[in-house]
Amino acid sequence: MLKNTPDSFGLVTRGLHWGIALLVVVMLSLGLKLESLEPGMASIRLYSLHKSLGIMTLSLMLARILWHLYSPPPRPIGGGWQATLARLGHLAIYALLIAIPLSGWAASSATGIDTVLFDRWTLPPIAPVSILWEERGFALHGILTKILIALIFLHMGAALKREMDGDGTLRRMTIGRRTD
Ligand code: HEM
Ligand code: HEM
Repeated sequence: MLKNTPDSFGLVTRGLHWGIALLVVVMLSLGLKLESLEPGMASIRLYSLHKSLGIMTLSLMLARILWHLYSPPPRPIGGGWQATLARLGHLAIYALLIAIPLSGWAASSATGIDTVLFDRWTLPPIAPVSILWEERGFALHGILTKILIALIFLHMGAALKREMDGDGTLRRMTIGRRTD
């Protein structure tokens, strides 16, 4: 089943969820590694890998949004404040996974260095070359990633707790159905 139904996640949504989750973990680790390096010839490949995978994450997020407009995902299991909080958390993760790559791209544009995807495709700059844009853009990029890390821990904790409570939340996102 590729599409979502009112109470199950289809293959496309599950594939996007776990693919993007993996990319995000790689991106956060790469980003934190970059912070501890001096920009230079030795680290240039890591910078371009981070930028390329970051734009890939942005593209996959846009694909995920389009897919969900076409095939809406099910509501979180149960109701009440926990389900509302889960939805708000998911929306916040969506917003961050758009804003983080855009801020990284804008700040990188402000340095005057081209953003080149996988050594092949040069993207247009989306901000003027400016020290102010560069500083503010990277500061924003850094702050948003810290908020994302906190939300991901909460998200994982909530998913595991619900699964331990036995409501099938995690099974719905892994094997695609609840077995109860
Ligand atoms: C989902 C996508 C992304 C994630 C999760 C992410 C994550 C991070 C993290 C955690 C850092 C370290 C920030 C800090 O501790 O202050 C970082 C730094 C950086 N990011 Fe990203 N990033 C993403 C996308 C991008 C994109 C698309 C670009 C550029 C096209 C980019 C360019 C950079 C650069 C150049 C740095 C180093 C900044 C510096 O040296 O001050 N990032 N990123
Ligand atoms: C690491 C990065 C992760 C991100 C960015 C992320 C993001 C999201 C988002 C946005 C949703 C809402 C459904 C959708 O729109 O596709 C979701 C659902 C879900 N996630 Fe994650 N997730 C991550 C990791 C994880 C991990 C590690 C687990 C397991 C412990 C997990 C378990 C779930 C479950 C069970 C749902 C379905 C919740 C429901 O039934 O409403 N996620 N995730």
